[in-house]
Amino acid sequence: MSSQVLIASNRGPVSFSMSDDGTLTMRRGGGGLVSGLSEVARDGDLLWVCAALSDGDRGAVRLAPGGRLDRAFDAGPVRMLDIPPAVFHRAYNAVANSTLWFVNHLLYNTPFTPQFGIRFRREWESYREYNGAFALALAEEAGPGSRVMVQDYHLTLAPAMLRVERPDLRIAHFSHTPWAPPEYFSLLPDDVAVEVLSGILGSDHAGFLTARWAEAFMDCCAVFLGARVDRESRTVSFGGRTVRIGVHPLGVNGEALRARAAEPDVESHIAAIKDVVGDRKLIVRIDRTELSKNIVRGLTAYREFLAGHPEWHGKVVHLAFAYPSRHDLPEYREYTAAVQRCAKEIDDEFATEDWDPLILNVHDDYPRSLAAYRLADVLLVNPIRDGMNLVAKEGPILSRRCALVLSREAGAAAELGADALLVNPYDVSGTAAALHEALLLPEEDRAGRCARLREAATAFPPRRWFDDQLAALDHC
Ligand code: F6P
Repeated sequence: MSSQVLIASNRGPVSFSMSDDGTLTMRRGGGGLVSGLSEVARDGDLLWVCAALSDGDRGAVRLAPGGRLDRAFDAGPVRMLDIPPAVFHRAYNAVANSTLWFVNHLLYNTPFTPQFGIRFRREWESYREYNGAFALALAEEAGPGSRVMVQDYHLTLAPAMLRVERPDLRIAHFSHTPWAPPEYFSLLPDDVAVEVLSGILGSDHAGFLTARWAEAFMDCCAVFLGARVDRESRTVSFGGRTVRIGVHPLGVNGEALRARAAEPDVESHIAAIKDVVGDRKLIVRIDRTELSKNIVRGLTAYREFLAGHPEWHGKVVHLAFAYPSRHDLPEYREYTAAVQRCAKEIDDEFATEDWDPLILNVHDDYPRSLAAYRLADVLLVNPIRDGMNLVAKEGPILSRRCALVLSREAGAAAELGADALLVNPYDVSGTAAALHEALLLPEEDRAGRCARLREAATAFPPRRWFDDQLAALDHC
């Protein structure tokens, strides 16, 4: 049995930016998937195959023999695929982020989308091509009997494609997103739904962050493929093969996070935040400006809370981080504008000369967000739907006393629900009431909840999460 492991994901552990004079600067990649996997990718016989996402990345690939960055940069064992930009754009922006992401997060809500016409068919063809490029690279790189860990909704077709090329490999697929129930998955054209599901079933093991998303996937396999689903053993039989379905919640490496949050740059942000907030209570949220994160409803809930509770005026500050995300998509640009409009309205309505009720941070500032976690009295995490949501786990690790207001639709609710204040993310008034309740939680209750949340948040750190999947794959 080979000990070689290959990881395949759209975004890789590093990215490059190119300055005007052509100099390349390497940065660590961001996001839940990348930070989880980066921690495990450092050890052992491992190769990470990812896509070039930008001109900087493409520049780096061209300098690296065979796209192997470790041979040209000090990047660890990474192979970056130089997929033609137009194909990449259609696969990533149009199919992965505007279609599969929207379906799995239940985001369609306008009379104009979705529309699956000729244009979509072209985009779908690019998605196939993009998945094919990964399958080919993995087939080239993998030694006999290697284990291949394919990640997420960008790469649903790659497992089946890879199996055709290399039946000797052991293949796993992992979904970092929720999975839609069949009634919503049925928005996809039938042939596309079938291709996505049977693409994932090309693997030996299909993993999900919670039992709820795994169940939804199995429901879709039964409805759209007529597959035989055994809920007890969590297996799906289709096309003469049986695939094991796994549930692997991802948590946080508490020690590493605490060490990072104790560094001097975080300490100086703590001092700066304290200067502004003083002894007022602090409500914190930290998100990418992402439609599924439900930032506008969260801000509106804060506004309702302020309107209904004048006794809190001047005594509370909401520090909201809304980092830029996916600005190639018009929906995200509009959403960013909506978040900023909503923040301005709150400011116009409530701010006084010596009190800013809301501070909105729209630039990526990791050390400042770590400082905010450490100071939070209340952490608001209210996504419409989320595969897991690591913010809900990081907060209690860094704060001894923060109360967590958490959407019941976040995957993290399965593990943290008992000690969080759970909300329906669409219920703005309910969220406003939960913010109030969280602010009033007695010290002892809040510390007890926080300690239990911390324990749950660190139960499955990335190393364990990944090793459990490898072990499950070995038993397939
Ligand atoms: O939830 C899936 C996920 O891959 C996260 O891990 C990550 O935060 C996000 O999507 C990344 O999106 P993108 O690579 O498009 O920025």
